[in-house]
Formats: sequence, C-alpha cells, structure tokens
Amino acid sequence: MTDTQTQDRVMIFDTTLRDGEQSPGATMTHAEKLEIAGLLDEMGVDIIEAGFPIASEGDFAAVTEISKNATKSVICGLARAQFGDIDRCWEAIKHARQPRIHTFIGTSPLHRAIPNLTMDEMADRIHETVTHARNLCENVQWSPMDATRTELDYLYRVVEIAIKAGATTINIPDTVGYTAPRESADLIRKLLENVPGADEIIFATHCHNDLGMATANSLAAVEAGARQIECTINGLGERAGNTALEEVVMALRVRNDIMPYQTGIDATKIMNISRRVSTVSGFPVQPNKAIVGKNAFAHESGIHQDGMLKNAETFEIMRPEDVGLSETNIVMGKHSGRAALRSKLEDLGFELGDNQLKDVFVRFKELADRKKEIYEDDLIALMRTSTDPE
Ligand code: KIV
Ligand code: ZN
Repeated sequence: MTDTQTQDRVMIFDTTLRDGEQSPGATMTHAEKLEIAGLLDEMGVDIIEAGFPIASEGDFAAVTEISKNATKSVICGLARAQFGDIDRCWEAIKHARQPRIHTFIGTSPLHRAIPNLTMDEMADRIHETVTHARNLCENVQWSPMDATRTELDYLYRVVEIAIKAGATTINIPDTVGYTAPRESADLIRKLLENVPGADEIIFATHCHNDLGMATANSLAAVEAGARQIECTINGLGERAGNTALEEVVMALRVRNDIMPYQTGIDATKIMNISRRVSTVSGFPVQPNKAIVGKNAFAHESGIHQDGMLKNAETFEIMRPEDVGLSETNIVMGKHSGRAALRSKLEDLGFELGDNQLKDVFVRFKELADRKKEIYEDDLIALMRTSTDPE
C-alpha cells in the first residue's frame, strides 16, 4: 500500500451531477447544477463529478462553468473510451484548478459484447485511451464498468494496463448493485495483492443500491483498502440509486471506533444540500431515509419520547445538529406519553399540575386516536377547553 492507502483519509467523490442526474426525471437546469456544485465544494467534497461533457451542449456548458467556479474540489468529467469523448471532456474541465478526466469501458462479458470487442482488442483500447487522457491531464481516473461481474483474471489484466498507461485512480464500479459486502472487500483486497503497481494508485468504490447494500459495500471496500467512495446526495441515481453520501460520511463518523477513517466533509451542511438536491431534482426523500429523512430524528412512541427527554443518547446515535438540523422532532401522536405531552405544553407556555395534566392527557389521547399527528394548535385548543381542577 502507498502512504495514501495506509492513511485513514477517505476521499469523497460526489457524482450527484453525473450519475445522480442520470436518474430518469432528475434533470437539473444549468443554474441548479452550479448551485449544487457550489454547495458540494463548500461542504468539503474532494472530487465533484460535474457531468458527461460529450453527452450534450448543456452538460458541456455546466461542466465548464463548474470548473471555472470551484475553489477547493477537484472537478471531474466523464468520458467513454474514445478519443473524441476524452478531448471534449478535457475542453470542459481544463479551466479547473484541479481537473480530472474519468474514462471508462464496460469490461464484463455482457458489456464487452456491446462494442463487440475481443478481450485483446478491449485491452488495447484501454491502453490507448488512458494514455491519451494522461497526455492531456495529470489526474486520470479509469473505471472497468461492471467490474463486479468481470472475470477476475481479466480484471487484473485491464487494471494493470490502465495503471501502466497512467491512471492515478482506479474505480471499481458495482454497476448493477450485484455485489455483497464481503465480496466487495475481497475484490479490493485481491486487486491490491495481485495487480502490479496497485500500491501506487488509489482504489475507489462505486456502488449502486439495487439490493440495498450500496452503503455496506462501500464501507467494506474501504476496510479492504479503497480510499475513495463514490456517492451521491440522498443516494440519487439510476434505478435504486447510488451510495448515499450522507450515509457513508455519518457511518464513518459515528462508528469511527471500528472504522477509523476520516473524510473532509463538514457534516453540518448535509441537511441543507439534501433538501436542495431533493427540490431541484424533483425526487422527494423518503420519510424514513437514514440521516436525511423527515423521521430520522423524530420520535413518537411514549417510551422513546420519555427516554429522549431524559437523555437524548437513549434513542439517538448522533445529534440532529451534527447533520445541520436544529433539534430533535418530538412528534405528538397516539403513541406519545404523559412526559412528552407535559414537555410540549411547557414549551408552549403552559404550566400544568398533575390533575390538569391527567385531564388533558385523556382528551389528547382521544384526539390522537382520530388524527394522525397532533399539531401545536391542537394542543393549544385542548388547553383552552381545559379547566384546572387543582
Ligand atoms: O455505475 C457505473 O459503472 C458508472 C461508471 C460510468 C463509473 O457509473
Ligand atoms: Zn454508476
């Protein structure tokens, strides 16, 4: 392993604007892409994949503009294994303070059949295109698309070719979300052990969530030696999406005791960017989504609410303010208990004796049985019709 790989720093590569935007219906406007790129740069994302410049004039313009504006992040553009794609990509990213070309080709049997290349022809194509990219740009990432369904010996061979041709990062995509955590780790470990030159480059992990394992697979790859995680805000991406940035960042933070790796992300910016990406992409965040869902820091059951009021650590493993939320949301509903009701009423300015609380609590439960959620106005109305028996 190189110094970088033994270090505990994991780079965050965000592809919301490329793989995320590829979700059917998630298209963003030019201005929205610039805004999201600005937020990613600000929150400490190491590499922003800003788009696929050959794909459209709009993508080219957005990647160009993002490249000009970025202050800290490396700006990366995607290109197929074709000289024309790579040249177009370079034209867009060359304005960045730190540009990166990301070129890829599908290496699994199913993907090799599409351009109808033999294994040898594909190997030659990889050599030529990575060499071409490296002649334009010092920072080159290469991906064998569908790596997790590529024959292992062939994967070793093509990764070695890409490294010799000058790739500085090798990304291992689980393009169809097929791998499982142990396998994800084994693959990175085997590549590090068996590919000459592997210790000179960074391995990246790029997971899709078709089986709901993208976060686990990414973290397993890191434990095996990958030092770049590719991900998107809210897990936006084709089909079931990509690894969610907020999940890997917070998992590495909360479980740093067993996964001692650091990212450069300012986690307090997570909530804001999550909301912006949801708005501009038109993809709502599911309420129970880890970290950024509306219910991720909400508690309704009486036992949980009581515990939370006494010590937040009883039912929360991170503080809402760690991800940029101002406070835990105590949701008043039919599962809420007396302690939560008293606390909520006190917040609203009502001091209650035990008997009055008993009376209001009975009426609160009746109301909660009829209504899903009880709002502050409902509680105020209950208090207005309550007489103090004390
Ligand atoms: O999932 C994938 O294989 C990709 C590549 C282009 C890296 O997004
Ligand atoms: Zn992908």
